[in-house]
Amino acid sequence: MANTVEQARTIKISKETLPSLKELYDLTGKVALITGGAGQLGKQFAEGLAEAGAEIILTDIREPELVERQNELKDMKYKVSCYRSELTDAESVYWMFDAIRKKYSRLDILINNGGMTYFMPLEEMKPEEFEKVLDVHLKGSFMLVQQVLPFMKRNGGGSIINIGSIYGMVGADQSIYGDSGLNSSAAYAAAKGGMINFTRYLASYLGEYNIRANCISPGGFYAGQAPEFIERYCAKTPLGRMGDSYDLKGVGVFLASDASKYITGVNLPVDGGWTAR
Ligand SMILES: NC(=O)c1ccc[n+]([C@@H]2O[C@H](COP(=O)([O-])OP(=O)(O)OC[C@H]3O[C@@H](n4cnc5c(N)ncnc54)[C@H](O)[C@@H]3O)[C@@H](O)[C@H]2O)c1
Repeated sequence: MANTVEQARTIKISKETLPSLKELYDLTGKVALITGGAGQLGKQFAEGLAEAGAEIILTDIREPELVERQNELKDMKYKVSCYRSELTDAESVYWMFDAIRKKYSRLDILINNGGMTYFMPLEEMKPEEFEKVLDVHLKGSFMLVQQVLPFMKRNGGGSIINIGSIYGMVGADQSIYGDSGLNSSAAYAAAKGGMINFTRYLASYLGEYNIRANCISPGGFYAGQAPEFIERYCAKTPLGRMGDSYDLKGVGVFLASDASKYITGVNLPVDGGWTAR
């Protein structure tokens, strides 16, 4: 019965009321909070969402870089503010939200993008280091979700985008690191695997409030890594290259906007095909 009623409702939508493609991607009037806003991928998300019309709030622990990023966006005539916060520290997160509540009446988009890792072998990692990686990604994202929910519920919906990794989907290929000084830690695998299933939990729990939750799992992005590493990495990737400075820009807008309004609970690899092999 519910299906029939819903179908009837859908059929009633006339051609004239259907939004254009441009309207579906439009984020005008929306407010987006991006963690890890001073970092490499945070820049892509912020620029994409701002260009689509959203007002941006950036947060990060690195204050000078955060302010610099804010100023870059202001120079591009985008509406942006920033708050320093430490994602592992509840007091710091709550302080930030006290400030956000004073300035903003809405918050429509959250990108849980802040992250870190330690480059060290399994045998050498200390329990505190393992815990820190889990805390930044999982506890941090959990606290932010709790804080944005009242805004999103009040406004009738929202989009939460968690940032996972290909290494939350498959085991790290240790053979590509050689003596580059890089590797991918067990803690990172646990944290990123957690981000992906945390996303599914949120999608099923929050659907009734029209709050969507999706995960983006990037592959390796170019950041001046050692040439031997880059060569091995690219050889393993179907598209034959690392991620570039705008591979995520449009993906963030897609998941934040009505262009994806019937998508929730997915993990979208943006990895040049790495996890397809
Ligand atoms: N760059 C890649 O190749 C890649 C690949 C897969 C996944 N990712 C994920 O994408 C996200 C962004 O990565 P990135 O490459 O931009 O890294 P980045 O280091 O450039 O940015 C991450 C940001 O998070 C901030 N941060 C770290 N710990 C924090 C804490 N405790 N409190 C507040 N802020 C903190 C850092 O200061 C930094 O600015 C991360 O979650 C990362 O794991 C990156």
